[in-house]
Amino acid sequence: MPDISTRYMGLALPNPVIVSSSGLTAKTAGVVSAAEAGAGAVVLKSLFEEDIAAGVEDSRGKSSVVHPEAEEYLSQMGMLLEPDTYLTLVEESVQKTDIPIIASLNCYSERWWTDYAERIEKVGAHAIELNLSPIALDVKTDASEVEKKLVDMVVLARKTVKLPLAVKIGPNFSALPYLAARLKRAGADALTLFNRFYTVDIDINEMSFKSGNSLSVKEEFPSVLRWIGIISDLTELDIAASTGVYEASDLIKVILAGGDAAQLCSVLYREGLSAIEAVKSGLVEWMREHHFETISDFHSLLSLDDDKRSTFYQRLQYVKALKGVK
Ligand SMILES: Cc1cc2nc3c(=O)[nH]c(=O)nc-3n(C[C@H](O)[C@H](O)[C@H](O)COP(=O)(O)O)c2cc1C
Repeated sequence: MPDISTRYMGLALPNPVIVSSSGLTAKTAGVVSAAEAGAGAVVLKSLFEEDIAAGVEDSRGKSSVVHPEAEEYLSQMGMLLEPDTYLTLVEESVQKTDIPIIASLNCYSERWWTDYAERIEKVGAHAIELNLSPIALDVKTDASEVEKKLVDMVVLARKTVKLPLAVKIGPNFSALPYLAARLKRAGADALTLFNRFYTVDIDINEMSFKSGNSLSVKEEFPSVLRWIGIISDLTELDIAASTGVYEASDLIKVILAGGDAAQLCSVLYREGLSAIEAVKSGLVEWMREHHFETISDFHSLLSLDDDKRSTFYQRLQYVKALKGVK
């Protein structure tokens, strides 16, 4: 029987299938179910900076600082959590399971969240994933300023806690290898590629905004794979794939491209927690067929480690893709 145990950001995982931060991991019962369903680790729902700020304001007798529209959006996504409830979620999840529990903090400014990072460490989380999504919404901020903000958050987190730190970012960076190197220097241990942001749609009859699809589709996975292939040999950060991972073959591709683990979210909403076992057994079967005994036997076999692969990931894909188009 092949051994599918692995290491991710310094943690020992029984297998490389991680349940993503989402409504599925917002309650202890959900985390326990994910562990019972065979997850290798769980990323808890993010504690949003807005939640923390709201809690702080409320405890001072002031009204919530969350903008009503932001509040509606956060609660739609199952995102509003009480900061103290969050600490209980971390503590109970660690006590009631025997897999790594990765807390998640959504950080926007330099306020509020560092205190919570410390408290999360104290109640026993095994690691923290920083859910970072700074973007420029004006014409004065350039890309380097946005990236500096991101790196500064990691520096701050590293100063605050000793826990392994993963950084979860969105897909819109043009110089990802450089950013990854900066994040590593800032003290990160892993990169989660990529967050899939809440999407907004427009109702053309009502002429108003409405929510877009909150769940991904399989077709979103190839661009994640492409970036993992490009950067895995250029960074010392461990890498977890997120977005569009649906089946065992996706996880196998992630590892071949040099990634270390894959996070599942939409597939679990669509098909239930049994998808975890399906991905794991598909991995075992494939390893058996190819006579691989451990994950490291095939890890990075197809990462970008020479000019040929560089050509493949950067240009040849266009040629091949075009050839496939009749
Ligand atoms: C309902 C829902 C809630 C989510 N909440 C969070 C969150 O709190 N923090 C976070 O980092 N990602 C959150 N995500 C994003 C997922 O963790 C994941 O990155 C994204 O859905 C892409 O993966 P997928 O294609 O497997 O769904 C959420 C996703 C969904 C569908």
